[in-house]
Amino acid sequence: MEVVSDLDAWRHAAAAARQRGRTVGLVPTMGALHAGHDSLVRAARDRGDYVIMTIFVNPRQFNDPADLRAYPRTPETDRARAAALGVDLLVEPSLEQMWPAYPAPVATTVHVGGMTEHLEGADRPGHFDGVASVVAKLFALTGPARAYFGEKDFQQLAMVRQMVTDLGFAVEVVACPIVREEDGLALSSRNVRLSGAGRQRALGLSRAVAAAAAQPATASVLRQRMRGVLEAAGVEVAYAEVVDPVSLRPSRDTESGRRRALVAGRVDGVRLIDNADVELEGE
Ligand code: PAF
Repeated sequence: MEVVSDLDAWRHAAAAARQRGRTVGLVPTMGALHAGHDSLVRAARDRGDYVIMTIFVNPRQFNDPADLRAYPRTPETDRARAAALGVDLLVEPSLEQMWPAYPAPVATTVHVGGMTEHLEGADRPGHFDGVASVVAKLFALTGPARAYFGEKDFQQLAMVRQMVTDLGFAVEVVACPIVREEDGLALSSRNVRLSGAGRQRALGLSRAVAAAAAQPATASVLRQRMRGVLEAAGVEVAYAEVVDPVSLRPSRDTESGRRRALVAGRVDGVRLIDNADVELEGE
């Protein structure tokens, strides 16, 4: 595995792979790699891609400085894990290279309207602009044919798809299913910040979306069902919502068909999210 941090070396390595006839697959991460990231790399390898993994803790997507400070950073173990997984090129750009003006605002940002204002966007102002801007930059520097995103950050995934459509990026966005612990907890780099008791309470999130997926009902009934499970588990609820999986528009009680149930809440002061595919039965 080649490791680079320089933007030119990154561009050249990606271009050289394309010249050799390889399809470039991008796995964008913020490090603290876990089995969820492994599944993205495996999906890229299964398709025969030349796999470029980026590790960059993007400060522009953190609206809370304490959250940015607390974000886990494990560069040595990440490097070993990426190599063992068969990543071809690991890119570790510095903050100075990615955002030379930081902490001053960058002149050009990407804003995906509408679908980023609610759910995570309601409590995390600027978060999705930070994600869209850095993902657009990662696409520009890498030139991937495919990019791999986990369904755990479902709103991020839907937003990236919208951005790719609107800006005409020639990138196939590949969605990879949520990877869970045996007891159902969705893997997240933030889970390491949970206490033992907090981890038990955090199971409320996976149980809430599992309860919504278990039996079709109206959107309101599914929302109430999820909220009930979250509150009973002791999760400080941010939202329990049912939305169209493409537009993220909240569902009405008259609608039927496949939708996405999403929950978010705080446990031990750590913000956690989860989601699942659900069936709506309109009234
Ligand atoms: O999902 C993440 O880890 C980040 O939001 C991403 C896509 C790497 C952009 O910084």
